[in-house]
Amino acid sequence: MAHRTIAVIGTGTIGASWAAFYLARGFRVVAADPAPSAEARLRELVDAFWPTLETLGLDHDASKDNLAFAPTIPDASRGADFVQENGPERIEVKRAILAEIEEGAGSDVIIATSSSGLLVTEAQQGMQHPERLVLGHPFNPPHLIPLVEVLGGQQSAPKNVDRALAFYASVGKKPIRINREVPGHVANRLQDALWREMFHLVATGVASVEDVDTAVSYGPGLRWALLGPFLTMHAGGGDGGITHFLEHLGPAMRDWARDLGEYPETDDYIGTMADGVSAELEGRDWAEILRERDRLLVALLAAKATAPDIP
Ligand SMILES: NC(=O)c1ccc[n+]([C@@H]2O[C@H](COP(=O)([O-])OP(=O)(O)OC[C@H]3O[C@@H](n4cnc5c(N)ncnc54)[C@H](O)[C@@H]3O)[C@@H](O)[C@H]2O)c1
Repeated sequence: MAHRTIAVIGTGTIGASWAAFYLARGFRVVAADPAPSAEARLRELVDAFWPTLETLGLDHDASKDNLAFAPTIPDASRGADFVQENGPERIEVKRAILAEIEEGAGSDVIIATSSSGLLVTEAQQGMQHPERLVLGHPFNPPHLIPLVEVLGGQQSAPKNVDRALAFYASVGKKPIRINREVPGHVANRLQDALWREMFHLVATGVASVEDVDTAVSYGPGLRWALLGPFLTMHAGGGDGGITHFLEHLGPAMRDWARDLGEYPETDDYIGTMADGVSAELEGRDWAEILRERDRLLVALLAAKATAPDIP
């Protein structure tokens, strides 16, 4: 494999999870983070994630001993084959971190930023080699959720976007290519569309918070996790597939779409949503729910791995 050492820069929520993921895939990981006790915290988190990664299956070279912590960002980046950047989500901090990464990393090494909202085009301004910066946006937690969103900014070389996509696919991720920079990338925009409507349905009294959760988690959400919404639609059209589905139901769906709500413009809605969540959780053990959620996620990922024809 072309990439053997990963520099993980910034080891908070996302960086620690990426570090554990790359270790589990058999890489050497060299991390850096200026926070006091960052190394101890990172090692604790990797220990905590490891049993789940073992359940999902480790690479034969995988070992927590392959984790090193460097005193500076240039030290961590020197000799790396791929850099995963996970620092704070502020443009001036990202630019400073990228400058430090470039002090150490070889000039053709890809730097992938995990940024949820900053534009790669803005982050790469001032870089010595802006053509190697790409987006490598994971879904939290990266050690479990396979999706990575990849795109290039205006100065990124298309071949480096291709290299990043190929790299993520080679380590078992499910990368997608985003063709154009838009706020929120793709997956967060899709979530946003649903969030906008769920707030509207609850705020206007159409359904409770609990019933909206049930509608998704025991309804379309079950299918979306297996095929995604387009293939689910294709299946819904029977022999005629998506074409029949849209010809048949499209006009009605167009009317429903015209009736959808807007995202709330003020914060008044928050109390209603929080009350709904409290009502839904009353008498339940939230910590236990989260443990069960994680156990089921691992089981689902393992089950999906047994179905190679599923895209
Ligand atoms: N939390 C999420 O759900 C999520 C999901 C996908 C992507 N992201 C993105 O991942 C990145 C990190 O987010 P997070 O949630 O892990 O934040 P976090 O606050 O948990 O971690 C940020 C880390 O950066 C470190 N740091 C501060 N200054 C630094 C510097 N100069 N150089 C290197 N490291 C520095 C901090 O000590 C901290 O450990 C952000 O760009 C965010 O948009 C977050």
